[in-house]
Amino acid sequence: MNDETKKKINERYERELNRGERFWPDSIFKDLIVSLGIFILLIVLATFIGVAPEAKADPSDTTYIPRPEWYFLFLFKFLALYGQIPLLGKIEWIATVLVPGIAIGVLTLLPFIEKNPNRYYGKRVLPISIMAIMVVGIVLLTLMSDVPTVSADGSQLLGILQAIAGLAIPGIALILLFLMSFVFKSSTRLMVWTTVLTAVLMVLVSGTVFALKPAPAEPAAETVVATTLTDQILAGQDLYSVNCTECHGDDGSVAVIKGVEGLEGKEITPINSRDVLYTITDSAMYEVIAYGRPNEGMTPFGKAYGGELSKSEIDYIVTFMRYMWDDRFEPPQLKPLFPRLAAGEVPSYDVHIQPIVKRYCISCHRAGKTNDNYLMTSYDEILTTGDNKANNIIAGDPNSYLLQVIQGTPIPDPKDPGKIMINTMPPNHALKPDIVDVFVRWIMNGMPQTAADAAALYTAPTPVVTPTP
Ligand code: HEC
Ligand code: HEC
Repeated sequence: MNDETKKKINERYERELNRGERFWPDSIFKDLIVSLGIFILLIVLATFIGVAPEAKADPSDTTYIPRPEWYFLFLFKFLALYGQIPLLGKIEWIATVLVPGIAIGVLTLLPFIEKNPNRYYGKRVLPISIMAIMVVGIVLLTLMSDVPTVSADGSQLLGILQAIAGLAIPGIALILLFLMSFVFKSSTRLMVWTTVLTAVLMVLVSGTVFALKPAPAEPAAETVVATTLTDQILAGQDLYSVNCTECHGDDGSVAVIKGVEGLEGKEITPINSRDVLYTITDSAMYEVIAYGRPNEGMTPFGKAYGGELSKSEIDYIVTFMRYMWDDRFEPPQLKPLFPRLAAGEVPSYDVHIQPIVKRYCISCHRAGKTNDNYLMTSYDEILTTGDNKANNIIAGDPNSYLLQVIQGTPIPDPKDPGKIMINTMPPNHALKPDIVDVFVRWIMNGMPQTAADAAALYTAPTPVVTPTP
């Protein structure tokens, strides 16, 4: 700055002083004009451009985790890290009220405490250092806001590093700066170096956090994605067969539960009845399935409550129940469960038995069920598991236990003939004759697995020869 300009500025300053621009009303008036301009600009922007809305809120979606707007994320993270501090972490109001309160209070009081008349930054090291550390901290906390404090394997390392970068280092630095400035009256150079070092350390530690940050989890793949109504009904039927048949029967008609541990003999309302279908709306039905009836013995199925079914999977089940059981709905034409058998034709596991077993049996006969250990989820399992594996299925034997129980003859206990060892199957209601027929033909013909194996066993019915006159 040469003397010439200096003089000019000073002259202008003198002139302004003499003219006497006052804070009130002159400066305030200018401020008001500018605020009004910004206000009008905002209204124009909101009217003509607007903000893209988020997806419509779904009040029944309990998996939604609300998060603050981005400019509050640093406070959000601060709170999360603060919560990790062993004793203080429990006293939440310190982090939510006291610390922000003190911060705002200090900012408000700063002009009264720090009466340094200089504007030159070299003479204002303390406030600039404090602000610099706060800004670096706020930026880093915002960036770290989506890094979990506990990793999937339960390790606390990430959380500890974040607390070091976001709480410990800046906290210690701020205390040091105050001590240097007021107690030891240290040189500004020392304070500048402290600030720089602090910022570098914070960046380095949070850099480590970012490097260790786990890759975002893939959104859990839906096990079935069905688009057409028919696909949805079929998907719902499969899910129903596995999860619900056990208690409600393959067609929802069970009124007394049988063959289910803990619920033996329990009376329930058949869920295919008008009583249920006409009184429970789709969304209430969704809730019943998602939340279950834990007090009555029906466990929750929705992922949000610890079950295994996703939102759309439960929707498919509801669709299935509506279209197949509710007489107000017209069911679409569905493919039959298995192709009809011609006379002499032999069914195979792949084409006939598997879909039947899936629909009527595996709800109870699969891993994880404690009241029987007969697994029916694969060809090998059907032939080789169960307490009575030697007798359940015997090629060519019409007295195979399986054939007896599905035809309504329970198997008595050999040691205590008065007692029933295996009930009729499925325990809750009888199979239709065409399904029983498939099991009979399959076992009588040696349990072929593939369609080709079964075709080889086909015995063409002897052609009826009409005598020629
Ligand atoms: C472990 C046995 C069990 C399983 C498995 C089970 N439920 Fe239930 N369910 C029950 C019991 C018990 C009740 C209470 C019955 C009652 O109060 O009449 C019930 C009630 C219901 C109701 C409400 C009936 C009413 O009267 O309000 C519906 C709908 C229902 N279940 C559907 C399902 C569906 C769909 C599945 C499969 C995803 C399923 N349940 C699986 C045992 C079960
Ligand atoms: C509601 C649950 C349930 C359903 C559905 C069900 N079972 Fe069972 N099953 C049982 C239980 C429980 C046992 C153990 C014996 C008993 O309690 O009667 C069993 C036992 C058996 C056994 C004897 C296994 C052994 O080694 O002791 C056979 C065979 C059998 N079931 C066949 C079937 C067939 C075939 C179907 C489908 C058409 C079927 N079950 C459907 C519950 C069920």
